[in-house]
Amino acid sequence: MTSVRINVNGNLLEREVAPRMHLGDFVREEGRFTGTHLGCEHGVCGACTVLLDGQPVRSCTTFAVACEGRQVTTVEGFEQDPVMALLREAFSEHHALQCGYCTPGMLTTARDIVLRLPNADEHQIRVELSGNICRCTGYMGIVAAIRSVLEQLRKQPDPVIEAARAQALAGHGVAMPANSGPLASFAVEHSAQAAAVEPSAGPAAEASSERAPAGIKGGTRMDGRFSVAYPPEQVWAFMADLEAVAGCLPGANLEENDGERVKGFIAIKFGPMAAKFAGAARLTRNEEQRSGMLKGGGQDTISQSRANGEITYRVLSDNAGATLVEVEMLYSLQGPLAQFSRSGLVKDFVARMILDFGRNVERRMDPDAKPSTEPARLNVFALGMSIIWNRIKGWFGR
Ligand code: FES
Ligand code: FES
Repeated sequence: MTSVRINVNGNLLEREVAPRMHLGDFVREEGRFTGTHLGCEHGVCGACTVLLDGQPVRSCTTFAVACEGRQVTTVEGFEQDPVMALLREAFSEHHALQCGYCTPGMLTTARDIVLRLPNADEHQIRVELSGNICRCTGYMGIVAAIRSVLEQLRKQPDPVIEAARAQALAGHGVAMPANSGPLASFAVEHSAQAAAVEPSAGPAAEASSERAPAGIKGGTRMDGRFSVAYPPEQVWAFMADLEAVAGCLPGANLEENDGERVKGFIAIKFGPMAAKFAGAARLTRNEEQRSGMLKGGGQDTISQSRANGEITYRVLSDNAGATLVEVEMLYSLQGPLAQFSRSGLVKDFVARMILDFGRNVERRMDPDAKPSTEPARLNVFALGMSIIWNRIKGWFGR
């Protein structure tokens, strides 16, 4: 017997195994990840395909002991993967599975195609899939599902998936964020910036929340607004300065900024919840309409949750010489924090952050205020108390 340590779907499995044990048996028998199916067991059918350090391999022809210290992702490990989320939906929509035996291997190969070959046509998809056999001969549906995902991503590129593609095209495997190896940088990030430009809700901060209509799959939409006691042209000019804008968002820090693209992080702590989203975003502005959109994605370095989002804002005159900023935010969370994404508490939290943001903008624009390069601090206690108080008022009809 030989001792081996392999990270499977983020779980470190340390076992004594026979040197002849293959990786397929290892994940199934030692890790109980039975989603990996074994068909031919000599490298022909592709049913056993898993990712090894982000690259698809046949687990039946890979010795477990050869995977010492490496990272394996089986079909169970793709729960938070944005590409796999699209593929799952497409497989279901196009009836791309019958008995499902080949499906884990097909999905893993399909994900690789989507990442490496953004422009693959039907012929190329079939060639790439030729190493995976479906005994139910359901190829038409499988090919149609992959085509539909490629088409969808061409029409509506997803920044997180684009980043993963760049990694794949650079020859690196793209594993899941749960793995901490060379692939962990997979997801680009949301937050710092996304939030940086978006204010919403003013004092009457009524952030309304509903499912996102489109664009951010399975996401949440929030609308809000806030007022600033300066003319719209000044506020519009201020909002072009991403450094200054990020400085108004509690917990946000910019690390890179070229005026259009930004990278940075935002740290949030609320009760037992703590998150530090690192991310990148891109700002586009329409001077004529005084509107802007910040689109980006990010990953929480603590929980490995991922977020995608876009924030659209419009700078309007309030007819009294001051400014009203309307904000629409679409976002989706995947991973452990996703369960909180639509809760009332989070809605309140975001509304309060936006309110703080609006106040900080006004403070920073005040010519008599002392210039500050310090980022705004998140007053967690005040924020928490304010949310709790509002909830209590709500329960007792104010
Ligand atoms: Fe591995 Fe068939 S079981 S290729
Ligand atoms: Fe049955 Fe492919 S769906 S083997």
